[in-house]
Amino acid sequence: TYRGIEAGKVLFLAFPKLHTGVCRYPLGMSGGQIQDEDISASSQWSESTAARYGRLNFEEGDGAWCPEITVEPDSLKEFLQIDLRSLHFITLVGTQGRHAGGIGNEFAQMYKIKYSRDGSRWISWRNRQGKQVIEGNRNAYAIVLKDLEPPIIARFVRFMPVTDHSMNVCMRVELYGCEWLDGLVSYNAAAGEQMSLPAYSAYLNDSVYDGAVSHSMTEGLGQLTDGVCGLDDFTQSHDTHNVWPGYDYVGWTNESFSNVEIMFEFDRIRNFTTMKVHCNNMYSRHVKVFRQVVCYFRSEADWEATPLSFSPVEDVENPSARFVTVNLANHMASAIKCQFYFADAWMLFSEITFQSDTAMYNTTLAPPKSGLTPDTQPKDDPTHKVDDSNTRILIGCLVAIIFILVVIIVIILWRQVWQKMLEKASRRMLDDELTASLSIQSETFAYTHNQSSTTSEQESNSTYERIFPLGPDYQEPSRIICKLPEFAQSSEEPVQDGAPHYAEADIVNLQGVTGGNTYAIPALTMDLLSGKDVAVEEFPRKLLTFKEKLGEGQFGEVHLCEADGMQEFMNKEFLFDIPEDLPVLVAVKMLRSDANKNARNDFLKEIKIMSRLKDPNIIRLLAVCIYSDPLCMITEYMENGDLNQFLSRHEPEGQLALLSNAPTVSFNNLCYMAAQIASGMKYLSSLNFVHRDLATRNCLVGKNYTIKIADFGMSRNLYSGDYYRIQGRAVLPIRWMSWESILLGKFTTASDVWAFGVTLWEILNFCKEQPYSQLTDEQVIENTGEFFRDQKRQIYLPQPVLCPDSLYKIMLSCWRRNTKERPSFQEIHRALLEIQP
Ligand code: ADE
Repeated sequence: TYRGIEAGKVLFLAFPKLHTGVCRYPLGMSGGQIQDEDISASSQWSESTAARYGRLNFEEGDGAWCPEITVEPDSLKEFLQIDLRSLHFITLVGTQGRHAGGIGNEFAQMYKIKYSRDGSRWISWRNRQGKQVIEGNRNAYAIVLKDLEPPIIARFVRFMPVTDHSMNVCMRVELYGCEWLDGLVSYNAAAGEQMSLPAYSAYLNDSVYDGAVSHSMTEGLGQLTDGVCGLDDFTQSHDTHNVWPGYDYVGWTNESFSNVEIMFEFDRIRNFTTMKVHCNNMYSRHVKVFRQVVCYFRSEADWEATPLSFSPVEDVENPSARFVTVNLANHMASAIKCQFYFADAWMLFSEITFQSDTAMYNTTLAPPKSGLTPDTQPKDDPTHKVDDSNTRILIGCLVAIIFILVVIIVIILWRQVWQKMLEKASRRMLDDELTASLSIQSETFAYTHNQSSTTSEQESNSTYERIFPLGPDYQEPSRIICKLPEFAQSSEEPVQDGAPHYAEADIVNLQGVTGGNTYAIPALTMDLLSGKDVAVEEFPRKLLTFKEKLGEGQFGEVHLCEADGMQEFMNKEFLFDIPEDLPVLVAVKMLRSDANKNARNDFLKEIKIMSRLKDPNIIRLLAVCIYSDPLCMITEYMENGDLNQFLSRHEPEGQLALLSNAPTVSFNNLCYMAAQIASGMKYLSSLNFVHRDLATRNCLVGKNYTIKIADFGMSRNLYSGDYYRIQGRAVLPIRWMSWESILLGKFTTASDVWAFGVTLWEILNFCKEQPYSQLTDEQVIENTGEFFRDQKRQIYLPQPVLCPDSLYKIMLSCWRRNTKERPSFQEIHRALLEIQP
């Protein structure tokens, strides 16, 4: 029994339970978020004990919901029903009786729960041992909370009082959990099988599946969505009592199937980024992660013709169970059918989760608030009447809402006008800057140079401005930190209201165009860079011949082109391997012709900055076409694409790669690439540039493992799963971000060092796994809180199989809590050059 759960408070984060640890929010009976009209009942004793009085901790009416007649043993006719309006993951229930200030003494000693996802098919909840009856209250006052094991995924929930003799019963209730963001309403698959082991059998069936089970499982959810990940040894279980070997897993053998097909149905059409499959890999028992998965997508009536396929690396060195992340590449679908192929005799899954952006609302499971469709109308619901006074209240509320909306619209319009004026002023300044001579007086140069070199941690605070066009008063990071009550008391890193961080006022904010952003640099540094010796030249666009499209972003495209006569525009260092008079391959980043003025300005700013970055490990701007539209940036071409895709296509050297004939990259070359990234970052940090999105996806690979750092911004579809969306607007690469960037919005060279540590980790994993792949975005943010608290509860990225201790030590040093204790890029670069395999 738990007491005193505060609304909205996260109780604890338990691993390897996925949602059940964090997902324990009161869903709104006691807090009032659940509307009266969504609480109904089989009957009521009187108007003052109607369903709406069945809210936990409420004393209104006669103090509880009470059914019309006494409850008889085994009758199960009476119920109190809650409609949550959308699917929820429910982990806990609370019940209380009726005391009515000492007059009443009715309560339910026992009860059962039924639930439904669509309002028509009702399922009786059973615990993991198959028992339906839950022990309820012993007196009329105390709240009794019960964990639901397994948890429920449902929209409708019914509490059904149970008695062993005829008695009066009254109830007040609450549900705890969170919204079911996966949106999965059922999975269908062949039934799990039994594995004979030398001394006993492991039963790999789905023992909590709530659909129909015969040879196959249909229309239900179960162990694959119960939030519990299996252990490394599948014969063991978290729950050591009363469960059998293999309990946490659903498994199949290749003796019965050539592959295992699982069909997933969702509540509506969604835009899928990833699927994470928690797999066992106990190869000593012939269990391995799947060899390949092929997924088909259905958004309307028909299945898409071309499936998506993914093959994880076979791992016969690490027997740990793990999440395998499958990139679903933003396919739109309401159903996904995946065929999993065996890598060994057995395939065992314990959990499958989906990450998606909801694409469309108001389809099957989200009827309008004003009434249920015939299909979803709870069948035996006599209390669902339309009440006149309610209608009047509703109209009143609507009028009030319309009034508030009008006020908000006026404020927004007013702010837009104000912003336009500011924009105009800044655009005028930018145009002036671009057309005027770029030279600056030498005293200014000396001054700014001194300034920047004394500041080892130049800060950029503008990420949130970058993401929010109306940014100046955006407060998101502090909202995140509100989740961490201790933070307010911390005197160690004060966040003063109104006092800007160092150089905050000087930050120039840059938006990449084909991607989204370029490096953030303080204005001082911009001045430093605007010496006339670094101008970039206009290239005649007729000399460019299109070859193929390399990529696409929100505001433009990147093309591979041949450029005639580019030699004149290139520095000598590029020319040694390019024959004179032959066309040169270049990447041409092009602004979409319909891009708005902001995008255009950002494109010009990006040119201004890139033209001044000259380092062998930073992508080089060769020339531009800005005299006419479309605006173009011509950069050197890197023939092997981005480092993430490059490494994903390669394998570590070794027996396995020999067998599979896959292309390999040696450990020395991995270190060579990492050292080049460190070197490029050393250069950026020497100019006090803060990159803010260092990751393998933002590094390009050329010939002979050469690496150049770029910044494609955050809008490439392929990597949308790497960015976290705050309330649907801000996009942050949280898995690469330091604790202080996430919680305080502080971006410094030290936070770039943190991201470098994560990039190094990606490299040593051959980019086969997303960082913290077993954590949801919310759990990553919670883990950030642990880094802040530093009470040894933070979870670090694990040492990759290929990674020697010396290299892992570098990674760990990048993730030190104290920014000053993190190494500089110079130190990292030196250390990487000394690494021995
Ligand atoms: N994609 C985007 N820019 C590129 C470049 N410079 N080289 C290769 N691929 C790219």
